[in-house]
Amino acid sequence: MTDGPAAPRLRSLAESDLDEVLQLNQRWVPHVGSLRFDSLAELVDLAELAVGAFADGELAGFVVVLGPGAGYASPNYRYFSARHRLFTYVDRIAIAPRAQGTGLGRVLYEGVVDHARGVGSPVVCAEVNLDPPNPGSQAFHERLGFVEVGRQWTYDDTVQVQMLELVL
Ligand SMILES: CC(C)(COP(=O)(O)OP(=O)(O)OC[C@H]1O[C@@H](n2cnc3c(N)ncnc32)[C@H](O)[C@@H]1OP(=O)(O)O)[C@@H](O)C(=O)NCCC(=O)NCCS
Repeated sequence: MTDGPAAPRLRSLAESDLDEVLQLNQRWVPHVGSLRFDSLAELVDLAELAVGAFADGELAGFVVVLGPGAGYASPNYRYFSARHRLFTYVDRIAIAPRAQGTGLGRVLYEGVVDHARGVGSPVVCAEVNLDPPNPGSQAFHERLGFVEVGRQWTYDDTVQVQMLELVL
């Protein structure tokens, strides 16, 4: 019997990963917001948790998570800041096309939930685009138990997002 591919190894993102992270992020615009190298580096600095999954030394996916009180101008982050004193906000998750549908998104979110529990946060928050649509991510979040708590138009009314929460 031959072994299948090794499970991706998870670790905190380092500055040396950021070129690869940026490349994967930009692969998925507009499902995730566009970044430049400096805005990505700033975001990772603000993050409570920034984790990459590496398979055969290559980035297979990543997640970036913020807690309360971050100086982050995103209208979606501000939406959840106004609703909660304590919360865990998934700013973005992206899986490389070759690793989609293999359970890696679920594994990264399990890490987010563990982190949230560890810091005493009662809720995980995220948003998904409704327009332009992202039905794959909507199905993913629904499968993981997230529920819609609102909708908003952002970025000069060019993007409509569904605001989601998973109560722990
Ligand atoms: C959305 C995304 C994060 C999901 O990650 P993933 O690793 O592909 O998903 P998983 O394999 O962990 O799936 C977890 C569950 O969600 C379901 N799911 C995932 N993608 C789905 C899809 N496109 N349609 C229906 N269900 C889906 C799976 O069936 C699975 O359910 P199961 O465990 O009961 O079988 C990933 O596809 C991605 O990076 N997409 C592009 C970027 C993006 O949209 N990011 C999110 C922005 S809000």
